[in-house]
Amino acid sequence: MSNDAHTTALTGLPYEAEQLTTDRLLLRPLMEEDLETAQSYRQREGVGVARYLLWEVHEREQAEEPFARRRARRRLERDGDGLVFAVELRGDEGGAGRVIGDMSVFLKSAADAQVEVGWVFHPAVHGRGYATEAAEALLRLCFDTLGAHRVVAELDPRNEASARLCDSLGMRREGHYIESALVDDAWVDSCIHAILDREFRALHA
Ligand SMILES: CC(C)(COP(=O)(O)OP(=O)(O)OC[C@H]1O[C@@H](n2cnc3c(N)ncnc32)[C@H](O)[C@@H]1OP(=O)(O)O)[C@@H](O)C(=O)NCCC(=O)NCCS
Repeated sequence: MSNDAHTTALTGLPYEAEQLTTDRLLLRPLMEEDLETAQSYRQREGVGVARYLLWEVHEREQAEEPFARRRARRRLERDGDGLVFAVELRGDEGGAGRVIGDMSVFLKSAADAQVEVGWVFHPAVHGRGYATEAAEALLRLCFDTLGAHRVVAELDPRNEASARLCDSLGMRREGHYIESALVDDAWVDSCIHAILDREFRALHA
């Protein structure tokens, strides 16, 4: 619950998206030219990895406006604000500038220092540890730069790859909600996974 003293408020606001680098990856704000690549993997069928996404997925003809809204997510200041990063392979990974996925951060409650993260990677690069590496950089941003107290991820419980990623990040499964989301006219369950700042620091001491 929020309180007047704001004793747990996020200390790193306002925050403007900046590039983040890891050993093998570059995370940078989405750009207009990323639309086609993002569309190539954000589909529910075929090569698409969106089968278990709890948010809307758009066909190419309807994708430009929602993509522009995601591209505009570059600043965190108020509850509901978000950041979307494109994840590029760095040069020594044999793919300078190649976008392999995207990562998101949403400000759920500044007063309570609660932040949500999300991730989508191209299936051609699954199983190489890139999602783990990018997600660790995102958690570092949340805890070290923004000052989050708790970071959550919301998953479709059938999404085993994403649940495994949460496990390896140290995010525990805290709750399973029955028919809590309406996706493509069907009610689906969702699970909340979370990690606290002290737990993250203990893992990365
Ligand atoms: C969820 C998702 C991002 C996970 O991607 P991924 O490619 O499986 O993730 P990673 O490669 O980082 O890690 C997975 C495996 O790679 C292995 N791996 C291989 N090389 C590795 C390395 N150098 N470092 C770490 N892990 C490595 C890990 O052991 C891990 O295996 P395990 O999970 O069986 O233990 C991906 O499946 C995806 O995009 N799914 C569709 C979109 C989606 O559902 N998003 C979530 C919405 S909530």
